Amino acid sequence: MSGDARAARLDEPFGHGKVILLGEHAVVYDQPALAAGLSRGLAAAALPGTGRLTVPAWALDVNARDAASPVARAYAAILAALGVSELDVIVKADLPARAGLGSSAAFAISIARAVARTRGGAVDAATVLAAATEAEKVFHGTPSGIDLAAASSGQVGRFERATGWRPVTVLQPMTLCVGLSGRPRDTHAQVAAVRRLRERTPGVRAVIETMGALVVEGERALGRGDIDELGRLLDVAHGLLAALRVSTAELEALVHTARDAGAVGAKLTGAGGGGAVIALAPGHERDVLRRWNEAGFQGFVATIGANGADSAHGVDRKLGGGPGAAKETGPS
Ligand code: MEV
Repeated sequence: MSGDARAARLDEPFGHGKVILLGEHAVVYDQPALAAGLSRGLAAAALPGTGRLTVPAWALDVNARDAASPVARAYAAILAALGVSELDVIVKADLPARAGLGSSAAFAISIARAVARTRGGAVDAATVLAAATEAEKVFHGTPSGIDLAAASSGQVGRFERATGWRPVTVLQPMTLCVGLSGRPRDTHAQVAAVRRLRERTPGVRAVIETMGALVVEGERALGRGDIDELGRLLDVAHGLLAALRVSTAELEALVHTARDAGAVGAKLTGAGGGGAVIALAPGHERDVLRRWNEAGFQGFVATIGANGADSAHGVDRKLGGGPGAAKETGPS
């Protein structure tokens, strides 16, 4: 099923992966951000049972009663929010865990949708979102909500804490290279580190405001199909994220390799400290993926903005496994 068709059926027990185009971290401080859902994600199925949750692709098998496991606690939080127990859930994952691609939000949305369906009647999007938010809190403390919004929508959108998600017009579909650092990201730790930096060093507030201003320019660039301008904005945003100290040697290597291979812009995406980068390299996507592979990193290509949603396609569609791949142990 295409991402478009999926987006039209909001009660389907699917959660999209995502990339943040601009504005991660700044969005926590009420700045806007731009994100795009991926057609890859997680699909969940719920059936009568004893509280067991399995995600075979992540080698995950837990029970909601297992308080020592964050994944089990997140699952239990969804069941409690929806007033349901005695269910088994199986999740098919087509997304690496902890790679900065919104795996935990996709996990929470897919399960909340599957569990909500077992209650019969129409599945209310706000109820699903509230239940998924309880799971995200287990993983990330106080998430802004952007990952859940993108996981629900699957499309390109602008998110602000105060106003939520609004779809964004994309004049011309955009092909993005997504590169995996192989180091798992830890959103909770990165958000906490940026918070400390912002408290200790007041000048950081101006950096965060500038990140928000880039989002406004980025939305305009998407609307007029200006890929070169978007590329420049990605580069500037990456510099500011590095200023917030969330970049790593691997993320820098991915970004610089992409630029050397012809990308018009590249940046880390998501919380950083590990995870993934995105690169805009029109006509040079294969070069970017090849150079990443030569440097020991895996990647894939996703098209953003085709019919309002993305249609991931791959020169290298394989996610996880191999050199540089994220260790798949759960979405937290
Ligand atoms: C993580 O995908 C995005 C962050 O801005 C955290 C958040 O918004 O909750 C780093």
